[in-house]
Amino acid sequence: MEIIIQPTPEAGSIIAAQIIAKFVRTKPDCVLGLATGSTPLATYRELARMHREEGLDFSKVTTFNLDEYVGLPPEHSQSYHAFMDEHFFRHVNVPRAHIHIPDGMACDVPAECARYEAAIIAAGGIDLQLLGIGTDGHIGFNEPSSSLASRTRIKTLTQRTRADNARFFGGDLAQVPFHCITMGVGTIMASREVLMLAFGKNKATAVAAAAEGPITAMNPASALQMHPVVKCIVDEPAAEKLTRREYYRWVYQNKPIWQQISG
Ligand code: F6R
Repeated sequence: MEIIIQPTPEAGSIIAAQIIAKFVRTKPDCVLGLATGSTPLATYRELARMHREEGLDFSKVTTFNLDEYVGLPPEHSQSYHAFMDEHFFRHVNVPRAHIHIPDGMACDVPAECARYEAAIIAAGGIDLQLLGIGTDGHIGFNEPSSSLASRTRIKTLTQRTRADNARFFGGDLAQVPFHCITMGVGTIMASREVLMLAFGKNKATAVAAAAEGPITAMNPASALQMHPVVKCIVDEPAAEKLTRREYYRWVYQNKPIWQQISG
């Protein structure tokens, strides 16, 4: 896992956007896996700016979101359909038909999950998966103790994740759904590349356990240690508990020119 430590979330988000933009320019018909939550917001803003001002073209890109709440219709302001539209899709030119988000209103949830997995395969698999990380180490909504081989399925959110996400529901915990449909850890691991972002002190324990702890279902992000191409961009507070942080800085400062990240 390559850890890239940046002074601020803004600086980290610009690098994340540069990595995604480079990917899109190199492979215009790439398949991107996308995340919601606060963490990727500045990355989406920067990608939208690149689209507007630099002509970054998403017209051949296909996207698959990690997850959706069960029971929230797409028009609900806190559904991940609405989130993605507000923060990304309405600002760029990904064709509507290329956008995939699990259907949280599906009557037959297992069938919806199987359909979603099949759609990822039919699109040729995910080239680059963008991730945040929960304070408990979840990726997607794969909470601790999730199978590391899991595929898209229904999961029950922990009370901690519901409490973490209550801020999006006006602070009203009662409004936060209990269930979601999420790509599994195995689905995420099947992506060709992974880009994980973590900002803020409250992510430091989860990040250290994911990058330097044992591989364990108790921190689903730790499965990424077994993935061949993972970049993890963190700000200083999120990097605080990494024992090898000076080495990670050293590696980033001394990258061979051909490996350096630029627009
Ligand atoms: C979002 C997702 C979650 C979040 C995680 C962090 O689609 O799958 O894993 O990435 O809960 O959320 P934030 O970024 O709000 O701290």
